[in-house]
Amino acid sequence: MRISDPNMVAQLAEMHVDLRQGTALADLTSLGIGGTTDLLRIRKHESLPALLSLLDANHLPHKFLGGGSNLLVGDGELPWVVLQLVRSEPDVELDGNLAHVDAAADLGRTITFCAKNDLGGMEGLIGVPGTVGGALRMNAGAYGMQIGSYVREVKLYRAATRKIEILRGHQISFEYRHTSFAPDDMMLSVILELPSKPFKLILEGIRICNEKRRSSQPLGQKSAGCIFKNPPGSSAGRMIDELGLKGLSVGDARVSDRHANFFVNAGRASAKDMLALIADVRERVRKNYGVSLENEVVVWNA
Ligand code: EPU
Repeated sequence: MRISDPNMVAQLAEMHVDLRQGTALADLTSLGIGGTTDLLRIRKHESLPALLSLLDANHLPHKFLGGGSNLLVGDGELPWVVLQLVRSEPDVELDGNLAHVDAAADLGRTITFCAKNDLGGMEGLIGVPGTVGGALRMNAGAYGMQIGSYVREVKLYRAATRKIEILRGHQISFEYRHTSFAPDDMMLSVILELPSKPFKLILEGIRICNEKRRSSQPLGQKSAGCIFKNPPGSSAGRMIDELGLKGLSVGDARVSDRHANFFVNAGRASAKDMLALIADVRERVRKNYGVSLENEVVVWNA
């Protein structure tokens, strides 16, 4: 989807929105897959209500992009524009046990920064790529912890009211890889309340999680993390592995040899390849285990 009207281009500039025409989303996703569209980089949160009205008035559908690390984007010319926040500077500010974090902040760097200031709790998430906003929306979790447990307050753009709102932690429900945020809500910033812990102890926790992750996940390869959610009481990775599907490929989309719930882009995989592989694996698991696996990866397919 392209924005060509010079009037609109001028209005975007007035709203402190940078227009990057013809952006390849393959360059903005950890899978390295995705077609082309116009990218709107938002430098001022306050511009969002006016920006969304402008897009609506021009019949331009949109999607919100975070760090692109849990996302499979369709191929070719995409039928929507993409909105992304520009990270504020500084992106984390501490006030006692409270960390005020910009949604565009990198999750790993945020955890490290807090750790250096003796604030822990999120050690398990250290190797999870992406932004704090993305982690929040999906309630990212690993090694027995989830980000939702630490949320005190969230500032977001609510598509339903078309306003920037503040939600308290208890107004949001955080479940396994799921939250009560609407799909078209946009996370802007969050206040996390983190337990005090000496840096040395946090570092030890980080080291242990890093080792576990390195030994079980294909970290150097292009992936979107786990493709499927774990069904209650079971493991998608184990089931796929037990069926002997490691290495199964469609084009360059491939079930990882290291962790069967990671599907990697081993070269120039297209979204079509990856979606075909996902459908094939889901069907084999359904046939053999009677379980219908639900996507963990977010799919933006036209
Ligand atoms: N297993 C296999 N073969 C495999 C992969 C796993 O037999 O190819 C077995 C393991 O040996 C283990 C069990 O399955 O007994 C569970 O594996 P693992 O500990 O790797 O955890 P997981 O359930 O596969 C979940 C999260 C990961 C998170 C890890 C660590 C989901 C879908 N996945 O994986 O999150 O990093 O636990 O806490 O909840 C993600 O969200 O993208 C993600 C990777």
